[in-house]
Amino acid sequence: MSVILEIKNLDKHFGGIHVTNHVNISFKKHEMSAIIGPNGAGKTTFFNLISGFIAPDGGSVIYDGQDITRDRPEKIVKLGMIRAFQVANVFLEESVYDNVYLASLAHFKKNAKMLVNRKAFGDAKEHADFILNKIGLFYCRDVKASELSHGDMKILDIAIALTLQPKILLLDEPTAGMAPDERIKMMALLKELHEFFQLTTIFIEHDMDMVFGIAEIIRVLVQGELIAEGSPDYIRQHERVIEAYLGKEVL
Ligand SMILES: Nc1ncnc2c1ncn2[C@@H]1O[C@H](COP(=O)(O)OP(=O)(O)OP(=O)(O)O)[C@@H](O)[C@H]1O
Ligand SMILES: [Mg+2]
Repeated sequence: MSVILEIKNLDKHFGGIHVTNHVNISFKKHEMSAIIGPNGAGKTTFFNLISGFIAPDGGSVIYDGQDITRDRPEKIVKLGMIRAFQVANVFLEESVYDNVYLASLAHFKKNAKMLVNRKAFGDAKEHADFILNKIGLFYCRDVKASELSHGDMKILDIAIALTLQPKILLLDEPTAGMAPDERIKMMALLKELHEFFQLTTIFIEHDMDMVFGIAEIIRVLVQGELIAEGSPDYIRQHERVIEAYLGKEVL
């Protein structure tokens, strides 16, 4: 598999904290990978750095052969690296359908390069229907977003991300705050979407059932440093990872 995203020597300080410590990672195309580590390890900061939300002190981010290190988030989104944003992206007063349709319309209009384009409206509608079906929210398309369960709200957020036709999907704690049955549903859904859309999926997660259940590669950040990367079996037995994060209970 070829490399789609290459992180070279990425470095960031916040005041006295070395929050990203010379991190090197090669993400392969169509890899399903997890980033784990203790609270404050620098996981979200890593996403902020690679998606253009904050600038690194040093190092580079190469996406599909192109240096995007200091590019703006909008440009990175256009290139196909999309981040799911939990509730921040959702219009709570609008229906499930309108949330997905509006995102879809914005995407197709941008691509059509015209403010009003008949074809864009049709394409956006078809695309919104397709995404809602695929993600399992079509049955509740008329429900107001604010009335969704926490789990379905997260799924709606992922639906919005999918309308932008990602090549790389970044998810920051997709199962945070979910009940166990919602977590299992999310796990199956992410796996299915990953396969169906041939995504490269990178998720940050504290739920170890999910991490060890679906990730092909697990990377461990501790105090900004990548201390280990490898298969679930390799990570499960990694002494430094057990000591710094996993503890004995997941063995
Ligand atoms: N914009 C910022 N300015 C200053 N410090 C920050 C900023 N963002 C994060 N930090 C600090 O950087 C460190 C890493 O934070 P980050 O949010 O990346 O951790 P995390 O691994 O995502 O943790 P969690 O698992 O709790 O979500 C923390 O000490 C945090 O307080
Ligand atoms: Mg975080």
